[in-house]
Amino acid sequence: MAVSTVGLGIGVALTVIAVVLHYARGTGWTANEDISQEVLEHRAETVPETDFPEPMNRSIGGGGVAAIGGGGEAGGELAEGEAEEDTSSPGDIPEDEIEYFDIEYTKEGETIEVANNETLLEAGEDEGWDLPYACRQGQCVSCAGHIDGGDSRDFVEHDNQEMLDDPELEDGYVLTCVAYPRDSFTLETNETP
Ligand code: FES
Repeated sequence: MAVSTVGLGIGVALTVIAVVLHYARGTGWTANEDISQEVLEHRAETVPETDFPEPMNRSIGGGGVAAIGGGGEAGGELAEGEAEEDTSSPGDIPEDEIEYFDIEYTKEGETIEVANNETLLEAGEDEGWDLPYACRQGQCVSCAGHIDGGDSRDFVEHDNQEMLDDPELEDGYVLTCVAYPRDSFTLETNETP
């Protein structure tokens, strides 16, 4: 009987303890606050501000470098192109540098003044003479003439003539449609090599 009394006492005590623990407030422990959002915000602050999303930035940066390089090359090519595209003609002479030379057209029987920015053909046509020509671009020999006195290059400057070779030029032949006078001389028109 004594054992059952002790057992009963223990049972009651355990029950009381269980009830007390049940209603106790506990240790005050609470789950950690969710700081994930805070961490994300902090990380966002450490990333430099950019105008574009990162992948786009990389893309543009890479492209930019390539473009700069390409631009440099393009600039170089352009500079070369500009040099190659120098379209200045022997007739492109400033107004204050224009000179006149006495040209004797033997077959026409006259000596006229021809400016250094005017071709022998144009000057003759301005006189009303019916001088021969076809292309007027130095691409045929229809307008050819002959200068007395030696190498025609000592007397005229041709603008891209492609028909007369060195011996013919040395003999005094000239393509009057693209020849600008640089000295006075005597010319026979309608003379082909
Ligand atoms: S007209 Fe053709 S070269 Fe002068």
